[in-house]
Amino acid sequence: SLQQHVPQGLKSPPGPRGIPILGNMLELRKDPHLVLTRLSKKYGDVMEVSIGTRPVLVLSGLDTIRQALVKQGEDFMGRPDLYSFQYVSNGQSLTFSPDSGEVWKALRKLAQNALKTFSSTVSPTSSSTCLLEEHVSKEAEYLVTKFLQLMEEEKRFDPFQYLVVSVANVICAMCFGKRYDHNDQELLKVVTFGNEFGEVAGSGNPADFIPVLRYLPNRAMKLFKDVNRRFDIFVEKIVQEHYIGFDKGHIRDITDSLIERCQEKSGGEDACLPISNEKIMGIVSDLFGAGFDTVTTALSWSLMYVALYPDIQKKIQDELDQRIGRERRPRLSDRGSLPYTEAFILEMFRHSSFLPFTVPHSTTKATVLNGYYIPKGTCVFINQWQVNHDEKLWKDPSAFNPERFLNAAGTEINRMESDKVLTFGLGKRRCIGESIGRWEVFLFLTILLQHLEFSLCPGEEVDVTPQYGLTMKYKKCESFQIKKRFPMKSSP
Ligand code: HEM
Repeated sequence: SLQQHVPQGLKSPPGPRGIPILGNMLELRKDPHLVLTRLSKKYGDVMEVSIGTRPVLVLSGLDTIRQALVKQGEDFMGRPDLYSFQYVSNGQSLTFSPDSGEVWKALRKLAQNALKTFSSTVSPTSSSTCLLEEHVSKEAEYLVTKFLQLMEEEKRFDPFQYLVVSVANVICAMCFGKRYDHNDQELLKVVTFGNEFGEVAGSGNPADFIPVLRYLPNRAMKLFKDVNRRFDIFVEKIVQEHYIGFDKGHIRDITDSLIERCQEKSGGEDACLPISNEKIMGIVSDLFGAGFDTVTTALSWSLMYVALYPDIQKKIQDELDQRIGRERRPRLSDRGSLPYTEAFILEMFRHSSFLPFTVPHSTTKATVLNGYYIPKGTCVFINQWQVNHDEKLWKDPSAFNPERFLNAAGTEINRMESDKVLTFGLGKRRCIGESIGRWEVFLFLTILLQHLEFSLCPGEEVDVTPQYGLTMKYKKCESFQIKKRFPMKSSP
């Protein structure tokens, strides 16, 4: 236990007593975000549980989490060396690998710069503001057509598989300069996994904490390894093709720009550490993986909420009609003038909290938080779900109500409120795709809702219970229906 090394005058964090060997594992088997939220009411914002024989620090409360991840950011920026994480990107992942030193810092910066270049660059060939807008518009318009076709043929459909390919195409365009057909088997094999990745990568996976489970037959672990292997093979092939077609004078995409950095001799001001081919694969796998699953999940929750709440859908569409009309497509630059839509997206992030925990952190040194002593190398779970449903922060947190983010006149987002939503983490490990993610959700959603009205088959029950994982999704739902809002003009 942590108890033995506690310096004088300090205490270990409180927490529920676990049973030998399993610790609190049995209590945490189902919906750990809910269980840990309940336990935090009793034990407080800084709490210790044990999973298997390993102590885990669980942080709740926005102020406490800000204190740890921002004010004491260096202390809490590590990643634990978890068994399952070694299978992500062959252990070379920038997100999951236990490194949080100079190499990680340099790679994170590289990835950030590459993302910025290949999303916000002005498109040379089109009327779009930037490459991201160009890619998303094209995919969203395809989705409108595809959904109408599905509706005509099947009278009902599950949008998920189409969303995932469209969103994957956006990140593929940035990373690999490539678009895939919606029937491309190679891409489908890689992106249409269900919960196989998230189930194991989510906080509290048993095999990460109880070593013996690694040697017993374990279906979840096997599927997880398979998903990662398929992923690596897919990315490796594309990176190889990039090496062959590489031309220093013509950098096509993020992969090219990383290869360029890899071939640079170190030295100079921005002195870069030598980067191996493996590290490049790690970065692009991370960007590709993080870039499609998160945004797809956000969009699938968005479509579910508009279908469940027709009045809210109508308000978004009224706002779109007023501010944009039906003649032109929504653009990224419209975001500031669509406060209700913005409020809806914030409420979707808050209410679903589909990333209930961040990726687990660990302490890089012994530290003190809220008066409690935390040893070096402690595994830390950050409970985002708790913050987004905290009765101390939100009025009626279980209600879905976009208006909570608007000023009284409904004309502006109340930044005091929106800053309380915790979805992308905070501090040194904060998501590097946050702006891209928010822009994508905004643009996909506005283009879809400008053209289509979403609903669910009348009289059918839908089960929207989130299934626990790194990203939580609702069960497969084939009850979506759509109506065209107005005749579509053929594209010029
Ligand atoms: C990390 C959320 C989109 C790339 C994270 C983390 C969260 C998150 C919660 C973990 C933070 C932590 O450990 O404290 C989201 C959400 C998204 C989204 C909700 C969309 C709605 C994206 C996109 C990309 C991306 C589009 C890339 C194109 C990453 C990377 C990390 C990360 C590379 C790891 C950072 C690190 O460990 O230093 N994201 N993300 N994310 N995200 Fe995102």
